[in-house]
Amino acid sequence: ESTVEVDVSAIEPGQAIKAIFRKQPLFLRRLTDAEIAEADAVPLSDLRDPQSLEERTKAGQKAMLITMGVCTHLGCVPLGAAEGEARGEYGGYFCPCHGSHYDTAARIRKGPAPTNLLVPDYEFNADGTVVTVG
Ligand code: FES
Repeated sequence: ESTVEVDVSAIEPGQAIKAIFRKQPLFLRRLTDAEIAEADAVPLSDLRDPQSLEERTKAGQKAMLITMGVCTHLGCVPLGAAEGEARGEYGGYFCPCHGSHYDTAARIRKGPAPTNLLVPDYEFNADGTVVTVG
């Protein structure tokens, strides 16, 4: 089993970075309070793949959203994890291949993707600055 360690301490609220995990893109994003509130305001019954932000993050680390950067439609890399990239109509990620829009919890909201961006297995170190994925 290969794992990857990523230092998340320098990621500012509203910012995302990309890493590579098992040869696939990994998105690590620190949500702003407004982005958390936006995710929490959505009734689960409105979602194609119903999951709360809380379920998609670690306890006490709701602002740190870690997902694969692989669209669940046909596997393109969505935009939104790099400075200046489009984040789509729901402020999360946008897949330009066929127009899938993901929200601030990286949940599918519009377009052909069937499911949310996948949350990999990961753990934080003791002070929450380093994430070990895998
Ligand atoms: Fe992302 Fe089709 S691969 S919308």
